[in-house]
Amino acid sequence: MAHPLEQLRDEALREIESATDEQALETTRVKYLGRTGSISAWGEQMKTLPKEEKPVVGKLLNEVRNALTAAIETHTAQFRLQKESGVLAKIDISLPGTPHEIGSLHPLHQMHERGIQIFRRMGFALAEGPDLETEWYCFDALNTPPDHPARNEQDTFYLPDGRLLRTHTSTVQIRAMESAPPPLRVIAPGAAYRRDELDATHSPQFHQIEGLYVDEDVSIADLKGELEFFMRELFGSESEVQFCPHYFPFTEPSLEVYVRSKALKGGEQWIEVAGCGMVHPAVFEAVNKARGDKAYDPEKWSGYAFGLGMDRLAMILFEIPDIRLFAQNDLRFLKQFS
Ligand code: DAH
Repeated sequence: MAHPLEQLRDEALREIESATDEQALETTRVKYLGRTGSISAWGEQMKTLPKEEKPVVGKLLNEVRNALTAAIETHTAQFRLQKESGVLAKIDISLPGTPHEIGSLHPLHQMHERGIQIFRRMGFALAEGPDLETEWYCFDALNTPPDHPARNEQDTFYLPDGRLLRTHTSTVQIRAMESAPPPLRVIAPGAAYRRDELDATHSPQFHQIEGLYVDEDVSIADLKGELEFFMRELFGSESEVQFCPHYFPFTEPSLEVYVRSKALKGGEQWIEVAGCGMVHPAVFEAVNKARGDKAYDPEKWSGYAFGLGMDRLAMILFEIPDIRLFAQNDLRFLKQFS
């Protein structure tokens, strides 16, 4: 004589077998295995059984529960498979697909990648700093006097708490030196901000690549050689580079860099592309003060720094007439650089 649990199992298995969809299977599952289902009721009944029967019935109960669960799972999987192949059968896989438009990198981004690539080959590592800065990083540590016009509220975006949007990427020079002792060879690409009126050649947000090289015996000849190499890589080997004396508070001497190349505006014009110079000893001293050591001893270390105007470089290289085009997101413009 089969145990009543076995009869219950066979009955349930027949029901599972004859279920025609997932819904019917679920109803059967609840009927037998649900909290108030008949198999679960047996679990309750166990408690009333004589001690010697408990292990036998307990084992059987487990087996029945497992058998039913497995049967339900198998059938559910079958139903799902049927449903999916039904859906797939309705799809004509020989139909042509919907083409996706492929985007491309923004011309300014392309310009940065080209620049970074060249400096990488010269051994520069990437450094970075925040756009939102303190006066210390933007001016004080860079030897900029308190009455310098760049500090003016007419030229610089200040926050009510005294912080500001960096007016140049030279801030990263200080951050890089504060966090690592010399020798150091880094570039820092990024945005800078000034209260300029927006026109064809000025934008309140623009982009620079800052460079800094500190080592023993770095000379102005290194600076000129490396920037010349950079310009020739970018604009062609016949490009000419000219350095003119200038003033920046954080370098001494300071220079402006001009390029002339057949590839640029017919080769007629000298175009200003960068500022540069030899790191001022006062900058090293400011860094030492912040570090609390003498790591950047100006008697031992020397360095050069430069700042390249990336919007300007992109404009002359790609013959873009108006800086505002960079930020307008006009696809007719952007697609020309894909
Ligand atoms: N920070 C300067 C500017 O935005 C550019 C510059 C000049 C950067 C000389 C330098 C430098 O690193 O040495 O006008």
